[in-house]
Amino acid sequence: MNISFIGGGNMARAIIGGLQKNGFDTRFISVIDPDTEKCGALNTEYAVQLSNSYVDKGNNEIIVLAVKPQQLRDVCIQLKNSLSNQLIISIAAGVRIKDIARWLGGYDAIVRVMPNTPAQIQAGVSALYASKHIDDTRRNQAASILAAVGKVLWLEDESQMDAVTAISGSGPAYVFYFIEALQQAGIQLGLSPEASSMLALETFAGASQLAVQSPTSVETLRAQVTSKGGTTEQGILALEQAGVKQAIENAAKAAAQKSLALGDILGND
Ligand SMILES: NC(=O)c1ccc[n+]([C@@H]2O[C@H](COP(=O)([O-])OP(=O)(O)OC[C@H]3O[C@@H](n4cnc5c(N)ncnc54)[C@H](OP(=O)(O)O)[C@@H]3O)[C@@H](O)[C@H]2O)c1
Repeated sequence: MNISFIGGGNMARAIIGGLQKNGFDTRFISVIDPDTEKCGALNTEYAVQLSNSYVDKGNNEIIVLAVKPQQLRDVCIQLKNSLSNQLIISIAAGVRIKDIARWLGGYDAIVRVMPNTPAQIQAGVSALYASKHIDDTRRNQAASILAAVGKVLWLEDESQMDAVTAISGSGPAYVFYFIEALQQAGIQLGLSPEASSMLALETFAGASQLAVQSPTSVETLRAQVTSKGGTTEQGILALEQAGVKQAIENAAKAAAQKSLALGDILGND
């Protein structure tokens, strides 16, 4: 499998790193990015091929569009005359398949993906959506690339991408926000910044792992820590009184609405 990355930024780097860790021969990966420093670093670290032309993409079976959403239209327009039988994988947030296909001059062998940043340590989760006529071979190729950086989930309907963006795409930021708040609370309660940071991080990592590995639901796991009349009960009560659950729902809804609006704006050219 030859894979060409257009855009060699954070997400491309994460996926290339995951592929290498999974034993993929990175000599079959090429990267095109105007930032020569970024390209040099990718070449040194992963031994990928570098390219500065869209024309040679004709030799690749898979092209991963890993530029910013606002850069995607220009990239597609430059790419469209080099396409023959490749699978296009777009990881750009918000941009819909119908718009990518339009910019590619009607070429629509496209899989749209929403990864997330824990991909950097192969602990990501990616949602994928394929145009209806994409066959199983191509679906499996796309899934195997994203599986190199974490779990994969196929969506039945592209409109679900806005919800995915709100939950797992933006989700790491909510988690970091929660950890930050817990760290600050620890300091206010008299812990050193180092001790508070360590306790907050390890608690989050341990509780997440327990939730992932345990057959018990998160509601039950929470109830198990919350003894009647105890300290946790007081903490949860304060969270409930502050409407934190509602605030998290509002955050996800706001992110989903933004994703929908971005798709409209980016496709309105
Ligand atoms: N990071 C996330 O959490 C996340 C999660 C899900 C999806 N995504 C999606 O992943 C995509 C990439 O994100 P990222 O964080 O990796 O962005 P990034 O670090 O900015 O990487 C994008 C790279 O593409 C380069 N580029 C710009 N125009 C180009 C062109 N015409 N041809 C080739 N390369 C070009 C950019 O160069 P310059 O810097 O010089 O412009 C930059 O190096 C985005 O569409 C984003 O929506 C990101």
